[in-house]
Amino acid sequence: MLLTREEMTFDFQGGKLDPVRDKAFIEWSMNQFLYGEMTGIQVGHWLYDAPDLNAAKFLARQSLEEMQHVDNFLRIMTMMDLRPGKAHWAVRFLSTGMMGGSWAEHVALEMAQGEGFVLMAFYGVIDTLDHKPSTDILRRAVKQEERHVEFGEIETRKAIEGKAWLRRRLLGLSLVSMWGVRRLAAYMGKRMPKDHPVLKFLPEFLALSNRCAETRLLRIGVLDRPLAELGTLKRAALVAEAYGGKALGGLLSLVTLPLRLLPFWPRKKRLTDVYLDDPHVSRFELPSGEPAEAARAD
Ligand SMILES: [Fe+2]
Ligand SMILES: [Fe+2]
Repeated sequence: MLLTREEMTFDFQGGKLDPVRDKAFIEWSMNQFLYGEMTGIQVGHWLYDAPDLNAAKFLARQSLEEMQHVDNFLRIMTMMDLRPGKAHWAVRFLSTGMMGGSWAEHVALEMAQGEGFVLMAFYGVIDTLDHKPSTDILRRAVKQEERHVEFGEIETRKAIEGKAWLRRRLLGLSLVSMWGVRRLAAYMGKRMPKDHPVLKFLPEFLALSNRCAETRLLRIGVLDRPLAELGTLKRAALVAEAYGGKALGGLLSLVTLPLRLLPFWPRKKRLTDVYLDDPHVSRFELPSGEPAEAARAD
């Protein structure tokens, strides 16, 4: 990976998430992660679009790993007596509604940036969650997530070689996702309890996530200078240029959006729509010999 664990680590100053006191927040977070792992089914789409055999082999393995991560979160949730529930609409929109439109967009935005962002959240949970059986599972899973991010970085670098227009396009799209993270940080800054040992840091944690995203763009070569040197006008132009190609599709989807939200609108239901009703999720049981434990275990 182009960033180290140290660079992607936020100092929570020893603050801990307590499985009993912070149950509601932990349950909410785990449900976002569970949905994120379920979107691993989308890897199948990109496997069919893989540019070479090595990429195809990587994606075939990745899809299996993401499905195993689904079980990891089901296991963690069962151990901590947390209920599977719906992910926030913004998380569903960002990970499914905004699926990349090309191989370059997929590897740059979903793998290098998107999975990089999730990886930082995993590091944050590992460093703060006071439940060793869960953090042990996550510690093993992050090794695989690190490889997914690294693949995204390498493939992005290959994709933009000699293509200045594509570099600008990916930069414009990345600027929008970083803007989204800044909005989220501002939202959390107003709502998170100022006296909670972990939650009070969330806005600063998100700010670090954006700085890491910028560093990653610089090291891949999507950015050729720090963002601060780009200026507001130049940034706006990059976003406009990136979305220019998407304008027609965007306009069309805006027109059909109210229709598509109607329950009778014909749309193929995918696992990301119905996974909560799947018996594997709704009646998940720990492998035999693994006791459920709602309390802290250290
Ligand atoms: Fe995963
Ligand atoms: Fe992943």
